[in-house]
Amino acid sequence: MAITAACEQATRIKNGNRDERMKNFTNAIVRVPSNSCGNGLTTANLGRPNAEQTRTQFGHYINILSDLELTVIVLPANPAFPDGHFVEDTAVVTPEFAIITRPGATSREGEVVTIEPVLARYRRIERIRQGHMDGGDVLMVGKRFFVGLSNRTDQAGIREFTAIVEKYGYRVDVIEVMAGLHLKSIVNFVGRNTLLLDADNAGHPAFADFDHIIVGQNEEYAGNTLWINDNLITPEGYPETLAKLKQLGLKIITTPTSEFKKMDGGLTCLSLRF
Ligand code: GLY
Repeated sequence: MAITAACEQATRIKNGNRDERMKNFTNAIVRVPSNSCGNGLTTANLGRPNAEQTRTQFGHYINILSDLELTVIVLPANPAFPDGHFVEDTAVVTPEFAIITRPGATSREGEVVTIEPVLARYRRIERIRQGHMDGGDVLMVGKRFFVGLSNRTDQAGIREFTAIVEKYGYRVDVIEVMAGLHLKSIVNFVGRNTLLLDADNAGHPAFADFDHIIVGQNEEYAGNTLWINDNLITPEGYPETLAKLKQLGLKIITTPTSEFKKMDGGLTCLSLRF
């Protein structure tokens, strides 16, 4: 799908013939990257992202989600928020409710305003009101949450979050993020009771109930692999991680992510799945 200015209207791509029993996700919310995306926050030192190439890679991404039979809700670009296409940071969505976060970077705080009304069509809304939290720090596996304590997610945000999710029977483990932007920059669930993560996090007792696939030191970026309905979407160009993931026996789709990497972002950051 080509992402053009004409496409910068809320668009819905709907697929039929689903087998709901096999699916953990049926919907995804995404936002078209703006021409201002080169002004976003980053520590990557990989050069300025090209907006046109960013939208081409984003187009590949939403085509993959659509091919996996998700209904993809495409929100228009918003130049006021250069990081706004990283919608994952604005909310945490569970089967029962959605929590609107309070992003930890000042320039991103306003991103939640246009996400809340969209999620409110699908879920009861809860909110982080005082602390800070980026959704990229929140990994949900069944009724468990692993929450990164990071430069973006603080103790106050985690306390509020925990009070909300415990009402619904969820358990929270807090993981200190020692490297990378968010917890999910390097720790992700990839199906089959397995976490994809780096060697440092693999030793954390909170992850002991899972099998582990360890991401090599030169392939940390591939730790941000996205699991959707027993398919894996992983960045292209990380052969060791790809070989390890293949052992899970799931369908694996690789896709280019060079521009998102320049922005400290990855595949999970680009959507809210539910
Ligand atoms: N560029 C993504 C972020 O820093 O939030």
